[in-house]
Amino acid sequence: MAEPGTVYLVGAGPGAPDLITLRGARLLAAAEIVFHDALVHPGTLELATRAEKILVGKRCGRHSTAQRFINKRLVDAARAHRIVVRLKGGDPMLFGRAHEEISALRVAGITCEVVPGVTSALAASADLGISLTQRGVSRSVVFVTPRVGDGEARRNDWAAAVAAVDTAVIYMGAHEADKVASVLLDRGLAPGLPVVAVESASLPESSYTALTLAELPRIAETRRVGPVVLLLGDVYAAALAACLPLPLAAALGT
Ligand SMILES: C[S@@+](CC[C@H](N)C(=O)[O-])C[C@H]1O[C@@H](n2cnc3c(N)ncnc32)[C@H](O)[C@@H]1O
Repeated sequence: MAEPGTVYLVGAGPGAPDLITLRGARLLAAAEIVFHDALVHPGTLELATRAEKILVGKRCGRHSTAQRFINKRLVDAARAHRIVVRLKGGDPMLFGRAHEEISALRVAGITCEVVPGVTSALAASADLGISLTQRGVSRSVVFVTPRVGDGEARRNDWAAAVAAVDTAVIYMGAHEADKVASVLLDRGLAPGLPVVAVESASLPESSYTALTLAELPRIAETRRVGPVVLLLGDVYAAALAACLPLPLAAALGT
């Protein structure tokens, strides 16, 4: 049997096709087969000119391919192809289940390399023009998710992490904004803490809503089709001041 190929876990970046790294783009151009997430932009997939492209999930609340099946497909693909790309939204190493894929590949004796990508927290910060850290205001940042996967044994105390830092970015939390707000308020966070919800960061349709923690459940009032990150902290006071006292719908801007 010929030597198996290499699987590259490539970060596609937050959405805009030109936010992938040069290394990621080169690997896509050389790939024979690409397994990609649902959030990957069609323009990014176009970089994989010679590859067979296979969608393997995943969007919140929608059908997605089981992780074990994805792992097996990656192993099988590496036994048949020289360059296999697993293309993931944002950075592969953040809320992307990269660990499971890397472990499965190692167990199967397949070489695996990771190519970083721009995570959505950084793209959202760029869109807002507001730094996650600021001298005298914020010196600590945390990335958390309230989401707990099926069968996850370990307790997820994401709220403790948010309470312990100056700036927090919450992934996969917008669809349960009411729960996020009530858990954080129970933790003692101030009802007036500024929060910004950024949708579709880095894309032309990028938009944001600025509100307070107590008002956070109201983001359900705005129809959301794109992915959303929630940014919390005093660094967003200026964004909040710029948007208030407009009604929520009018506070949506680009
Ligand atoms: C499964 S996680 C993957 C995160 C990804 N690995 C990253 O580094 O951005 C998916 C979540 O990332 C966030 N997200 C991804 N792309 C986004 C974007 N363009 N704008 C805002 N949030 C985004 C949303 O919270 C979404 O529910």
